[in-house]
Amino acid sequence: MDKKVTVIGAGNVGATAAQRLAEKQLCDVVLVDIAQGLPQGKALDLSEAAPIEKHDAKIEGANEYESSKDSDIVIITAGIPRKPGMSRDDLISTNMKIMKDVTAQVAKNSPNAIIIIVSNPLDAMCHVAFDASGFPKNRVIGMAGVLDSARFRTFIARELDVSVENTHAFVLGGHGDTMVPLPRYSTVAGIPLTELLPADKIEELVQRTRDGGAEIVGLLKTGSAFYAPASAAVEMAEAILKNTKKILPCAALLDGEYGINDLFIGVPVKLGANGIEDIIQIKLTDKEQQALNKSADAVQELKDKLKELAG
Ligand code: APR
Repeated sequence: MDKKVTVIGAGNVGATAAQRLAEKQLCDVVLVDIAQGLPQGKALDLSEAAPIEKHDAKIEGANEYESSKDSDIVIITAGIPRKPGMSRDDLISTNMKIMKDVTAQVAKNSPNAIIIIVSNPLDAMCHVAFDASGFPKNRVIGMAGVLDSARFRTFIARELDVSVENTHAFVLGGHGDTMVPLPRYSTVAGIPLTELLPADKIEELVQRTRDGGAEIVGLLKTGSAFYAPASAAVEMAEAILKNTKKILPCAALLDGEYGINDLFIGVPVKLGANGIEDIIQIKLTDKEQQALNKSADAVQELKDKLKELAG
């Protein structure tokens, strides 16, 4: 295929993302993981499904980065996931080290790639990857908002008994308890959600969205969500590979947008061949802006923690 995407971390999120990329015939895929045999085994298994799934994507597994050379996109899922009782932020010191190592390899082997970060705590990991890669800010993008808004859309569709395809939802802010779902900008077949559901029901769905990751961790017990996170990362990759200019909520490094500086925060961005091609600024009410500022404060705290951990 013309395009090549490397997925780092061949665990639950990484392998599922590889499967979706291949089955959508978007690109060849290289799966990289430190675990010996794991990426090779999963890549071979996925390749052997190709005749049945009807695609010709090449899928390769490796423990080093040689075969990932000159990838168009690198999706980083390497790291440890949450266990019950853990917050995303509890993962910071382990995943920071992994992210630093991995991104340095990515920058060396695929200097022109666009990086999509999935590992948690997401916003903090974006900062690590941005610093370690030296890439411009349009080429370091965090996956959070697409997942959070997909969760919100699922709950809206179930509540109203309508197709998920009729739902649109916007979720801003960090990928944590302070995320900011925006009911005012969420619609069903173009109708604002606020006209379809009472405020208390909307608040219930918003809270379930905020707790969406923890709900799944609580059920799985051995790890965190992976089907929807992989779908979300692949939706972003598809917009970039096909240069569709799709507007999606992603973590982007802000430079004054929404009154926030030097922080990765979830905002609507336009995704195309150059990665983040625009940051869309929507008008927020005072209350919404305050919620976004609170979310930015939480990301700033994590950024400070990274500094502390780096010594
Ligand atoms: N280089 C490459 N791969 C690594 C490295 C490294 N330095 N360190 C760990 N890994 C691999 C592990 O060997 C494992 O196969 O990352 C993979 C992670 O897979 P899982 O444990 O299944 O975790 P997963 O559910 O995929 O979540 C990965 O994404 O959603 C986030 O919070 C989640 O941070 C977590 C990440």
